[in-house]
Amino acid sequence: MADRQKAAVAALTQENGNGECADCGMENPEWASVSVGVFVCHRCAGVHRGIQGRVKSLVYDNWDNDSMQVMKALGNKKAKEKYEMCVPVYYKRPHSESVDVLRREWIEAKYERLEFTDPDKQESYNCQIKTGMLWKLGRDRKQFALRKFVLNRSTNKLVYYVNEDNGKPKAEADLDFLNAVFVPQKIGKSSGLQITYFRNGSTRNLYVYADESKEIVDWFTAIRAAKWERRRIAFPDRDLTQLAEDLTKDFLMEGWLYKMGPKSEPFRKRWFTLDRRKLMYLEEPLNAFAKGEVFIGHRDAGYSVNMGAAQEGDRGSNSQNANCCFGFTLHTPDRDFIMRAETQDDMEKWILALQKVIDLPLTTQDSKLAALLVPKKASNSFRLIKR
Ligand SMILES: *[C@@H]1O[C@H](CO)[C@@H](O)[C@H](O)[C@H]1NC(C)=O
Ligand SMILES: *[C@@H]1O[C@H](CO)[C@@H](O)[C@H](O)[C@H]1NC(C)=O
Ligand SMILES: *[C@@H]1O[C@H](CO)[C@@H](O)[C@H](O)[C@H]1NC(C)=O
Repeated sequence: MADRQKAAVAALTQENGNGECADCGMENPEWASVSVGVFVCHRCAGVHRGIQGRVKSLVYDNWDNDSMQVMKALGNKKAKEKYEMCVPVYYKRPHSESVDVLRREWIEAKYERLEFTDPDKQESYNCQIKTGMLWKLGRDRKQFALRKFVLNRSTNKLVYYVNEDNGKPKAEADLDFLNAVFVPQKIGKSSGLQITYFRNGSTRNLYVYADESKEIVDWFTAIRAAKWERRRIAFPDRDLTQLAEDLTKDFLMEGWLYKMGPKSEPFRKRWFTLDRRKLMYLEEPLNAFAKGEVFIGHRDAGYSVNMGAAQEGDRGSNSQNANCCFGFTLHTPDRDFIMRAETQDDMEKWILALQKVIDLPLTTQDSKLAALLVPKKASNSFRLIKR
């Protein structure tokens, strides 16, 4: 009897959007929340359980007739119609690989706080001014301290203050050249967020987190909302969904590599981050400033990447090292960057990621970035900031 119900539930996953997790889109969900009538993946099921949802496994649990009937009557398609009536276009929906905070807040916002059935419930991120306290890592990387952050759409800036009563902001970030990326592992906090922005010709990194995951996701969403609003006004004829692309963008790659100095100096271990068309290398992963930043242009402008040391080859013993130990070379019009990965797998991933960027046509935003990184040269080139 119970087996028949279970088979009937399993059959439901073939229809009405039930074949993908209702919350993150992962294929073949093996769980269900009977409370709201959705089929979900195991990670999202954990969040549903956390909000007192009645969660059942399609594989391991027994199914009674009533629960089966609930799933039959509801399901992912109906739930989407009910709970996702007004999801803002700038809202970052989680995908199957998303960090836990994004997944958790999306599910809680959707089914518990009902943020997407009523636009009035979106004030904590869709606002002219957002103010609050966040834990920010000091520049010495020793400790986090609570800092007051203010996002102001009128000035298009995110600023923070060391002293709450002090009128002068410690730093001001222009939202047009700001990216925000969740990096929980790197920061060591589940809500760890890296905010990067341009300051005086180079990139500044801020590392922050909040005590509550809702707070950090609200900040993340507020940044996206402010950027989107500005684009919407600037380009009234553009498609709204298109304007919401790349409001923030996850790093394409991050990790340790060994980099040869410009004059065949020995290889040095550096933390590399590929942020859209910008390759940064830092002495330590949580540094405020990169040691250098390279703009990665299009292949037509002379950018390429290949396995092994530079083709000229005559760099002495170092090039030998690069060849033997997962070496690869990034060619730019001004300079070759010779790097070494720690494993074959890492090397392949880096080459693939760089190649993808090199193959992509430049956008208007890319050209602006190139101009910022290269104040005195033609765009499509790069500038190395030496510190
Ligand atoms: C299962 O439940 C439905 C509705 O809740 C009911 O109409 C049906 O008779 C039940 N079937 C069995 C076999 O109990
Ligand atoms: C936001 O910016 C406007 C325009 O510059 C300014 O008048 C206002 O005081 C700012 N608000 C905050 C809270 O900083
Ligand atoms: C900006 O950079 C220039 C040259 O690198 C330097 O002289 C100037 O002091 C910097 N300004 C600030 C505000 O850091």
